[in-house]
Formats: sequence, C-alpha cells, structure tokens
Amino acid sequence: MEYKIAVLPGDGIGPEIIAEAVKVLDAVANRFGHRFLYRYGLIGGSAMREGMDPYPDETHRICTEADAILFGAIGDPLYDKNPDAKVRPEQGLLAMRKKLGLYANLRPVKMYPELLDLSPLKEERILGADLLVVRELTGGLYFGEPRELRNNGTLAVDTCLYSVEEIERIAHVAFKMARLRRKKVTLVDKANVLETSRLWRRVVAAMAPEYPDIELDYLFVDNAAMQLITNPKRFDVILTENLFGDILSDEASVISGSIGLLPSASIGDRVPLFEPIHGSYPEGAGKNIANPLAAILSAAMLLRTAFGLAAEADAIENAVETTIRRNILTADLKPVNPATTSETGDFIAANL
Ligand code: IPM
Ligand code: MN
Repeated sequence: MEYKIAVLPGDGIGPEIIAEAVKVLDAVANRFGHRFLYRYGLIGGSAMREGMDPYPDETHRICTEADAILFGAIGDPLYDKNPDAKVRPEQGLLAMRKKLGLYANLRPVKMYPELLDLSPLKEERILGADLLVVRELTGGLYFGEPRELRNNGTLAVDTCLYSVEEIERIAHVAFKMARLRRKKVTLVDKANVLETSRLWRRVVAAMAPEYPDIELDYLFVDNAAMQLITNPKRFDVILTENLFGDILSDEASVISGSIGLLPSASIGDRVPLFEPIHGSYPEGAGKNIANPLAAILSAAMLLRTAFGLAAEADAIENAVETTIRRNILTADLKPVNPATTSETGDFIAANL
C-alpha cells in the first residue's frame, strides 16, 4: 500500500529525532512491502528563520494533502528571550492544531520494567502504571479571546472558554479509549473554582449513561497532580482540558523515567498528527545526543492509528523494547557510555 506522510521536523532536536523515525518507517516499508511518500514542510522557528510565517500556507497544504502528519518539535530560544516578540514559533504549532481541527491529544504513559530505577518514584508505586492522558487541544486558555495586554502593558488578559460541543467531542474520545483499556475515566478539573470546569463536570456526567460499562470519577487538578506521583496506578484514562493536560502529561512522563519516551497522537476531523510530547531541547540540538524513542514511538502510533497497520506498529514497539532491554540508550536514560541518536535509530531499524 502507498501512504502519504507530511513530515514537519521543526526546531531544535526535531530534525534529528524525526530523521530516526523516518529511518524506522523506511525499514518498516521495506519489510512489510509498503510505500511511504514523504513531503517535508517548515514550521515554527525553522520557518520564521526563512522569513515565513510559523505555520506557512505551503505547510498547511502539505498537511491537508497527506494521510498523516509526523511532527518533531517547536521552540527556539531566540524568541524565548524576547517576551515582546509579536510572532513566536509556538504559534505555528497552535495554528496547525486549530486549522486542522486536532482537538484530541492522546498521550499514553507506560513504564518499562528495565527503566524502573530511572524513575524518581519508588518502584512499588509505579510498577504496572499504565495511563492515557486525553487532553483537549484546541480550546481553553490557549485559544480563548480576548487575549491581550491592556493599560500600556500593565494588565494582561487570557480567556478560558469551553462550549458544550467542545467538551462532548473530547469526552466521547476518552470514553471510547477507556473501552479499549481498563474502562475507567477520571475527569480532572478545577470545578471548585472555575466555571468552565463546572461545565465540564455537568456535560461529562450527563454523558456517562451512554457508557454504562465505564467507571467515571472526578478529581480536582491539584489533587490529581499529587496522586499522579503518590498513586499513578489509580489512573486509566485522564480526561482534561488543554492547559491541565499540558502540565499533567509532563508530570506523568516521569513515571516512565524520561520525557524522551512519550509519543502522542492528535486527532480531529481531518488528517491526524503524531508527535513526541517533549519539546525542542535546543541545548541538545545538532549533537546527536537526543533520545529518538518518543519520535519513533510516535511513528508507531501513526501506523496503528492513522493507517490501521497494527503488525507494523507492534514491530516498532517491540524493537523499542528490545533496544531498552539491550541497554542501547541515549544520555537521558544512560549517562555513562550512552548510545547516540542515530545509533539508537539504526538499532531499531535493524531489529524490526
Ligand atoms: C506540548 C507543548 C506545546 C503546548 C507548546 C510547545 C506550545 O508544550 O505539546 O505539550 O503547550 O501544547
Ligand atoms: Mn507541553
């Protein structure tokens, strides 16, 4: 079969880790007799440095014409140092999410037994932890209007907005994902304070009778943040709004030992997007030291979710597990005598 993949390496370590993911996809194509047609697009700082918009029209076209998108990372210290910058690389990612209607971000967190001692958490707490953060991705504080500086820059406004429809469509995703897992959804919100959170609770509670096989419970986000550390096994599917999901998924990544291990899928009404949850790690860029596993696992999610290629995705995930078992790990996981980014990718490509 032939599939079109839009490849957006982005900034920082993005190009290096995406090169490894493409290497592994090529090995899959060879072994399983597929053809993956890649079209590359600029996004974020890499587009801005060429004098373009952070999400250029040309990149949007490449995305809409593809069957799936593989994305690396966004973020450029050049702009972080300038809080007054009108245009920032991150706006490219946000514009892409919005324009492609990618409202559901799925961030699975699992632990690898071999990496248990790398986790700052005690082994007995995390052994067997396996959860999925379902993060709303196109609403809330990230997109609400008005968002502006007022009174000569002495007052700043962001707006948190959610409609019933936005909550319902992401909650359906969470309930359906729970059906494929341990059948539990935890809605994480701040309903003791926020009006939007109270709407989330009302809407999700009203949907529960449609999913009688799913257990639904509720946590305030501060308590959820604590329980992720003290009792991560209590979670199966975490359903939450955009900003809480951003924060909690970084927190949850420590369970696996490194944020460099976590892939994600963003889905909506159009073409789906797959990306590692870590950022652009500019200090590590160009050094061949970054962990490519999250990008490679994102490619596996892409094959499974976008193309229905389960055996191919399994092959990648098994090869990643072999790599971990054989201790072929980058410096984030193995500070002494680590493997490089490209050696890790080579090993996985060769062991499919
Ligand atoms: C993420 C990132 C982005 C976000 C940034 C880069 C805008 O942190 O995908 O989690 O906040 O959503
Ligand atoms: Mn984040």
